Amino acid sequence: MNCIITGASRGIGAALARELARKNVSRILIASRNESSLNSLKNSLNEQYPDTDVLVLPVDLSSDKDTGRLVVFAAEHMDRLDLLINNAGAMVKKPFDQSLSVDIESVFRVNYFAPSLLISRLMPLLLRSERAHVVNIGSMGGMQGTKKFPGLAHYSASKAALAVLTECLAEEYKSTSIHFNCLALGAAQTEMLSEAFPGYRAPVSAKEMADFIADFALQGARLFNGKILPVALSTP
Ligand SMILES: NC(=O)c1ccc[n+]([C@@H]2O[C@H](COP(=O)([O-])OP(=O)(O)OC[C@H]3O[C@@H](n4cnc5c(N)ncnc54)[C@H](OP(=O)(O)O)[C@@H]3O)[C@@H](O)[C@H]2O)c1
Repeated sequence: MNCIITGASRGIGAALARELARKNVSRILIASRNESSLNSLKNSLNEQYPDTDVLVLPVDLSSDKDTGRLVVFAAEHMDRLDLLINNAGAMVKKPFDQSLSVDIESVFRVNYFAPSLLISRLMPLLLRSERAHVVNIGSMGGMQGTKKFPGLAHYSASKAALAVLTECLAEEYKSTSIHFNCLALGAAQTEMLSEAFPGYRAPVSAKEMADFIADFALQGARLFNGKILPVALSTP
């Protein structure tokens, strides 16, 4: 099984790579900006799970050029793509009336543009899988009717866009072998959560959240397509 995880240098993405290697996924491409963290994770996984081939690509997903590099790299190393987990996430916490266009753009570039471009450009590889699963990592803040928090308007709106994109793609590609789902996460203890809610302690660790996502990524496409699923004990 070939898998790509974006945003795997720390937090939920790093724990997810570890859990998928433990579950014998044969090739995992991990991508984000911090090359040394990605390489440390690769070395640790190589030692613990020698049967999993871990590929590292440092990319800044706010750049279309880097998103393109990721697609080319994947095509060079994979004959098909079975699992794409769009986990990388960017957050800017600022009062709405102080947010600059650069803040809005940086959040939407990573949280919405990059997953969209990756899915579209990786489509030929996804279509070569007998059953591909695209898992978009959303947020409870991006679901209608949930509790909202000041300063997180653009972050939440970007996750709402990603969630609706998931529903649209499931419809547009329903005749293919690709299934698309969005997991709307509640609080898990990571750097992003600490930045968003200083001093708050989440009831769920990054590893616990990643373990659930890994199970869902491997099994969820059997019975779910086009779903936005809340995965939360708490918000935040
Ligand atoms: N933790 C929570 O409570 C929570 C709740 C709801 C949703 N989520 C979502 O869960 C996902 C994982 O978040 P987390 O809590 O694990 O956050 P985190 O610890 O801050 O990790 C974020 C990851 O995204 C990567 N990333 C950020 N900007 C990037 C860019 N421009 N290009 C490439 N990679 C980039 C980071 O890597 P580099 O710095 O190396 O680039 C890092 O690996 C995110 O989509 C987040 O929105 C988390």
